[in-house]
Amino acid sequence: MRDAKYDILFEPLAIGPHVAKNRFYQVPHCNGGGYRDPSAAAAMRGIKSEGGWGVIFTEQTEMHHTSEITPFIELRLWEDKDIPGLRRMSDAMKVHGALAGIQLAYSGINGPNFYTKEVPLAPSALPIRTFTNDPVQARALDRSDIRDLRRWFVNAAKRSRVAGFDLICLYGAHGFGIFQHFLSRATNQRTDEYGGSLENRSRFAREVVADIRDAVGDTTAITMRVSLDETIGELGFSNAEVREFVEMNADCPTSGTSRTAPGRTVPAPRASRKKARRSCWSRASGNSPRNPSSASAASPRRT
Ligand SMILES: Cc1cc2nc3c(=O)[nH]c(=O)nc-3n(C[C@H](O)[C@H](O)[C@H](O)COP(=O)(O)O)c2cc1C
Repeated sequence: MRDAKYDILFEPLAIGPHVAKNRFYQVPHCNGGGYRDPSAAAAMRGIKSEGGWGVIFTEQTEMHHTSEITPFIELRLWEDKDIPGLRRMSDAMKVHGALAGIQLAYSGINGPNFYTKEVPLAPSALPIRTFTNDPVQARALDRSDIRDLRRWFVNAAKRSRVAGFDLICLYGAHGFGIFQHFLSRATNQRTDEYGGSLENRSRFAREVVADIRDAVGDTTAITMRVSLDETIGELGFSNAEVREFVEMNADCPTSGTSRTAPGRTVPAPRASRKKARRSCWSRASGNSPRNPSSASAASPRRT
């Protein structure tokens, strides 16, 4: 018999258009298998499902070939032919009723690209930050690169939906992930509309969330993992700035107020219970829900 104070952990929770059966939320976490051992990685997530988790995530999934975090082995979603392997993983996650989540990562200043030899792209032209101090330099994204990057995130989100995932997590934590690289003054030294003030440094995150919401938000929950503090004081992203960032996007992650599960109303997370304001997180009015099958019409090329 468990202590009643833990009962809430076993209650359902609305996340975007989905309802998690409980609050046991397995955050994204690598296991070393990645694209190299897809069957083993899928089986491992299946065991989490058997164990009763409400939400199960992949590890970081490299979403475009222009950014990879070699020598580490992660998942990849570079093109349509990566979908079946990930479908196997989402199927395994769902066997016992968990929601399936995928974390989309663009490694930017953390991606040395040893495998593809592509020139890494990052908010500013700085040395790549790897664990092995490799002498690789990133090129700063220009406006046209940023438009491309936004489109690549949309393509990856559509492919994630075809691969059967209910939730997308945009990676911007632990020093990894382009969202943190834009948000942090340590890696964003731009002087255009994507640099300087917090509002400017947040612009890329807001744009990508809005793009993805327009593309798949009717069927897929959108989340973002952000570091709470870079612990380098004024040189980086402080806890005060994180709080401001969250406040600026107070109706994140969903503009919904509550969801109804069979026989009950399921609360949405606290932030989304605030009065819904029109923002990047809300789908633009006038967009009709898209036919999920339209995503499978994505170009088979790497886009
Ligand atoms: C080997 C390893 C791989 C990880 N991979 C990821 C990842 O791909 N994405 C992510 O958001 N966090 C990743 N993390 C961070 C974990 O999700 C988690 O936050 C961390 O292990 C701390 O656990 P805690 O949050 O329960 O304190 C990783 C951590 C470790 C140790």
